Amino acid sequence: MGVDANKVPQIILNNGQKVPCMGMGTFGSDRFTAEQVSNAVAGAIRAGYRMFDCAACYGNEDQIGKVFDDAIKEGIVERKDLFIMTKVWNDMHRRVEESAKKSIEDLKCDYIDLYFIHWPFPNYHAPGCDVDSRNPDSKPFSVAEFMDTYRQIESLVDKGLVKNIGISNMTIPKLEQVIDKFRIKPVACELELHPCFQQQELFDYLRAHDIQPIGFMPLGSPQRPERDIVAEDIADMQVPEFKAIAEAHGVHPAIIALKWAVQRGQIPIPFSIHEMEYTSNLESTVTEPLTDEEMAKIATLEKNNRLVKGQVFLWPGASDWHDLWDENGTITDCPDAE
Ligand SMILES: NC(=O)c1ccc[n+]([C@@H]2O[C@H](COP(=O)([O-])OP(=O)(O)OC[C@H]3O[C@@H](n4cnc5c(N)ncnc54)[C@H](OP(=O)(O)O)[C@@H]3O)[C@@H](O)[C@H]2O)c1
Repeated sequence: MGVDANKVPQIILNNGQKVPCMGMGTFGSDRFTAEQVSNAVAGAIRAGYRMFDCAACYGNEDQIGKVFDDAIKEGIVERKDLFIMTKVWNDMHRRVEESAKKSIEDLKCDYIDLYFIHWPFPNYHAPGCDVDSRNPDSKPFSVAEFMDTYRQIESLVDKGLVKNIGISNMTIPKLEQVIDKFRIKPVACELELHPCFQQQELFDYLRAHDIQPIGFMPLGSPQRPERDIVAEDIADMQVPEFKAIAEAHGVHPAIIALKWAVQRGQIPIPFSIHEMEYTSNLESTVTEPLTDEEMAKIATLEKNNRLVKGQVFLWPGASDWHDLWDENGTITDCPDAE
């Protein structure tokens, strides 16, 4: 079972780097231990995955690094065949090199293939904290502070510690403020993307600027932490039109969500600890594609179903989580937007 890694279709990033059209997530939510996640990574390498989405704040890089190291020592993969992504957490924006070196040490990977600024704010909250908790030191987005963090990653590229730069959880108004300021252009942006949350405008903006969208929570994250679930959230995989397409193909709706994602042009990074699931997820990249009609039908399922609202990053004086997403076209409370 699994896919020959060489058969997984590839995407070419804006600097010519080739990457697989699907990666694997490693956020264990509150529900899966670091050991369960790293066991899944070990199985996923055998199943043909080569791209992995890690993060310092997921608290499992050490265990995942052991898996990478073992896979390389056992001759299953070479380091150059893996595409290891990780992210600097909010409390390390002023100490990016220290954070990158720690991730490199934990992941035992010598260098990071793609390093993201996880959130565009330096606003720290303790892992697993309640959604109502607020840090009084939190601040709104600042162009100067964001660019300072970005410049630190650019210097890590110069030093060979990082190969490619990524941004995450951005908005068009924020991107507009920084897009002309990069010395080394970001190759990718991670953003929440699933059938009922398609972010078409941001998606189109990224494509127009040759920044590859990487879609997180591609299945609508059914196992996301309890604290992140509100009554209004829609379960993407349960939407009747969506289930009908899956039934017609005789597969789980997850497989349809992933085919849709790849055919639309984003790189999905689904997570699962179950071998059957993560294997069939990758297999979806090499089996029968969706028809134009099915793609068009899924395009109509947009429901503005944002699941990661980000309340814990709010600063004193902010009204609610909508302030994080610049929905009225300007950056809320930004001290230095031009
Ligand atoms: N940049 C960011 O700020 C950010 C934010 C969030 C997430 N991420 C990244 O995105 C990754 C993916 O997001 P996610 O893990 O929250 O959600 P997800 O991939 O949308 O959903 C994962 C869940 O879907 C189920 N599933 C997976 N494959 C399946 C299949 N073939 N059939 C049926 N069910 C299946 C599994 O649940 P069961 O165990 O119930 O089967 C699994 O726990 C994360 O791991 C992380 O790496 C990044």
